[in-house]
Amino acid sequence: MTREPRSLPVLDLDPFGHDVLTDPLPFDAALRDAGPLVYLPAHDVYATGRYAEVHAALRNWQGLGSGAGVGLSNFRTEKPWRSLSVLLEADPPHHDAPRRVLAGLLGPGAQRRLRAEWTGVAEELVDRLLPGPDGTDVEFDAVAALAEAYPLRVFPDALGIPREGREHLLPFSDFLLNAFGPRNDLVAAGAPRARELSAWVSARCTRETYGGGGFGALIWEAADRGEITPAQAPLVVRSLFAAGVNTTVHALAGLLQAFATHPGQWARLRAEPALARAAFDEGVRWASPVQTFFRTATGDVRIGGAVVPDGAKLLLFLGAANRDPRRWPDPDTFDITRDPSGHLGFGFGLHQCVGQGLARLEVECLLTALVRRVGALEPAGPARRRLNNTLRSWDSVPVRARIA
Ligand code: HEM
Repeated sequence: MTREPRSLPVLDLDPFGHDVLTDPLPFDAALRDAGPLVYLPAHDVYATGRYAEVHAALRNWQGLGSGAGVGLSNFRTEKPWRSLSVLLEADPPHHDAPRRVLAGLLGPGAQRRLRAEWTGVAEELVDRLLPGPDGTDVEFDAVAALAEAYPLRVFPDALGIPREGREHLLPFSDFLLNAFGPRNDLVAAGAPRARELSAWVSARCTRETYGGGGFGALIWEAADRGEITPAQAPLVVRSLFAAGVNTTVHALAGLLQAFATHPGQWARLRAEPALARAAFDEGVRWASPVQTFFRTATGDVRIGGAVVPDGAKLLLFLGAANRDPRRWPDPDTFDITRDPSGHLGFGFGLHQCVGQGLARLEVECLLTALVRRVGALEPAGPARRRLNNTLRSWDSVPVRARIA
């Protein structure tokens, strides 16, 4: 039990309730308005949704650690249900070597190497989906046809795993991201398959899985050179299974949903396709795919003039910070011409997303292929969310595309 805070604002709402997960915006506004640091009795945790405080907390890795877990569970007192991530759930010095290896492998060199291939796959996918002559309308579900289809093809190919069994990737990551939240119905729904999915992934983190060239093989080569240990290598590979696909899928789904409901922004992108990269970052700011992560205080830590006591969990609302009017003019407006840099959708500081360059490349390739072929995009039915304790995800985004 966390020490009951005396002078802090209290917000008596459950951020993991279905209503909040379906539409986090009213909760996010209430949290920001309540104060810079707020106590949430629903889960006995501290929380902040203001940009300045979330940013400062992400920077303060010394006072707010990741090693006791970035979910609600506190690994100082609870046993983890799986072995911990050597990146996301590690503090320095343990975090240093795996981070260095992955940052090297996923950095600008890999992006240059993959660009031509990923462009080709995007063009092929779009041509197959939209074969008709100019002026015809095509209806499809943007989640299945694009947001899932594209990352599920290019990223596992780059990792170096066989095509067979890839349908396990999204449910695995879906469960993992749900499990950062409380043990609610969403976790219970995924629990029956958790062991089977984890075993499938673990079997694909071994040295034997990988031939030459892909990220999996390159991680094992780094172990052979002594840059990480043989015990760390499979967990570095696992971090790509955990964080490399589902996040991009739902960032893309959210972005396509944003464009379908903002036809003027699609017209803007069509007029200037070079805005694709900035549009992606604006999409991540506006509808942050990763909504929250926790930290654990490693001593008494000051946030927003108040104290998070040693051992307490602090819930950081990245999505709320990305719409904080104290930081962003017209935060609720989706505007691909704004400068979205500094958004916290990829985190910040030591643990800032190490795969963000690859995510940007994926979305840029797909969006560029799409905008060349689609003159107008509009909803073709109500979009349906898939609830997840961490990820703002989508089951279905039906759209109508006018080929041009
Ligand atoms: C870390 C978001 C794509 C791999 C993070 C963090 C966020 C994030 C918020 C910080 C976690 C923290 O501070 O505790 C996203 C989003 C993505 C995306 C929104 C897509 C739009 C990717 C991809 C990869 C990846 C494509 C792999 C290629 C990782 C890893 C970490 C991480 C390994 C842990 C880094 C560390 O702890 O040093 N991501 N991510 N992510 N991400 Fe991503």
